[in-house]
Amino acid sequence: MINLKNTLKLRTFDINKDIKDIETAAGILKNGGIVAIPTETVYGLAADAFDSEAVKKIFEAKGRPQDNPLIVHISDFEQIYSIAKEVPEKAKALAEAFWPGPLTIILPKRDEIPTETSGGLDTVAVRMPSHEVARKIIALSCPLAAPSANISGFPSPTSFDHVDADMTGRADAICNGGDCDVGVESTVITLATEIPVLLRPGGVTLEQLESILGEVRVADAVLNPMKKDEKAESPGMKYKHYSPDAQIRIVRGNLKEFADFVNSSDCDGVLCFEGEEKYFPEKICVTFGREDDSLSQAQRLFDALRELDEKGAKNVFSRAPSKNGVGLAVCNRLYRAAAFRFVNAKKPIVGLTGPTGAGKGFISEYLKKLGCYVSDTDAIAREITMKDSPFLGILAEHFGQDIIDENGELKRKLLAERAFKTKETQSLLNSLMHPEIIRISVERCNEAIEKGAAAAIIDAPLLFEAGADKYCDTIIAVIAPKEIRIERIMKRDGITREQALGRMSVQHEDEFYTMKSEFTVRAFEPYDAEEELKGFVEKYLGQVM
Ligand code: TXA
Ligand code: MG
Repeated sequence: MINLKNTLKLRTFDINKDIKDIETAAGILKNGGIVAIPTETVYGLAADAFDSEAVKKIFEAKGRPQDNPLIVHISDFEQIYSIAKEVPEKAKALAEAFWPGPLTIILPKRDEIPTETSGGLDTVAVRMPSHEVARKIIALSCPLAAPSANISGFPSPTSFDHVDADMTGRADAICNGGDCDVGVESTVITLATEIPVLLRPGGVTLEQLESILGEVRVADAVLNPMKKDEKAESPGMKYKHYSPDAQIRIVRGNLKEFADFVNSSDCDGVLCFEGEEKYFPEKICVTFGREDDSLSQAQRLFDALRELDEKGAKNVFSRAPSKNGVGLAVCNRLYRAAAFRFVNAKKPIVGLTGPTGAGKGFISEYLKKLGCYVSDTDAIAREITMKDSPFLGILAEHFGQDIIDENGELKRKLLAERAFKTKETQSLLNSLMHPEIIRISVERCNEAIEKGAAAAIIDAPLLFEAGADKYCDTIIAVIAPKEIRIERIMKRDGITREQALGRMSVQHEDEFYTMKSEFTVRAFEPYDAEEELKGFVEKYLGQVM
């Protein structure tokens, strides 16, 4: 337990009107104290960045792990040379474009920066906030190490009430500077690597960074949970973050699907966009910005998370925000708040495609074992051309009544002769067959989902050509090396190598399939369907309610 402090409350809205309190804050900081200060992103808990004893107090007050480094805040660009050992041209260009503002740059550190501040790393994070009060306090004191002013693991504070709740009794002083503009923490980029890496998205967007730096890599941990044993590129990534008491799950689907799903579930809370509250009269409903406005979502998110707890929500479903622009920062925080739990409002229709012999059949057998329904479009093609199928009448209308014999059977050879005569006759056949096959396939998929299948798979070699991809929520491409495919086709159809090659020659390259698909299964020998389908199962089957 930490000893409770008598925390001074200061008023710091305006650098002119509130200068007395701003000077008081600076005085406490110069004397080794810790003070919560407003910034444009979130409130920070500040201490003299060069004073290891003062910095230790921050870790203690927050309950923060020692190896999670702090950001050093400056008020004047020249101060960077007292903190960073090298300041590359790229850093200058970023500073020119985005400072003061919500961008943190990681650089090699000078020895004067204590290991407490850098979390034991040989790099240091630097940022110049745009909040005038923050800059004034720094100007009157010194560069300040400051993490967000929340108790470790809680959502970052974006209003004075949040700071008051978390830091009263823990900090020497807390400054009231009103609500934060940006609402999520700064963008963190490292220039300590050859290609700059975006470690944490924030108010300065990836697109903005790319416009100055060219290539920027996005750290995997931005939108994904850290894998076991993986070394964090930024220590902050590995800690539990932004987590409210309520259990949050993010729901994929549009508003209507979301509302149907949520209202037929027994959740007690909903995190949705402004204007959507009316759909959830029975639930504890909290909004976080407007659907088409990531800036407003960023501004509201942390407050919304705290509000859910205040209102006592325990089991919450959240709308899924866009990942574009500042939306990437919103998703990064919300995914963590939800501990990467997702659900699908609707069970998916999944396209399964790939060139002949790649091993689609094997994958569809495996998916059946997982409770998926599989609609085989080749089988439907045979079915609709069987005796007594009404579709035969339509074929006869276009290709001649004599393609049907006296018993009502289709003369397949004759139809093939006529249909494959020219490009036009071939596309005529396709334009008749494809829509009918898709119609039946989608109808059966929807039925299977109604009846409780985990997902419905449209197994179609010509998925894209037939336009069936439009009906799919996601697509899996199955590919394999040519040699393996040749052997599989020869074995499966009992044909020669030359015949197999002939069939393969009229097909697309692998990229045709993989570029348009969310998942790619590499059905090389030997292969493990479970391992290959892990990403798909996790995203679309694992969390289906
Ligand atoms: O907007 C902000 O950045 C706020 C306000 C107060 O300025 N501050 C803030 O600090 O969010 P904090 O400590 O909550 O987050 C700092 C992040 C952590 O994820 C940390 O791991 C990372 O920056 N970081 C700091 N120094 C680093 C370094 N040398 N290498 C890699 N990551 C670093
Ligand atoms: Mg933080």
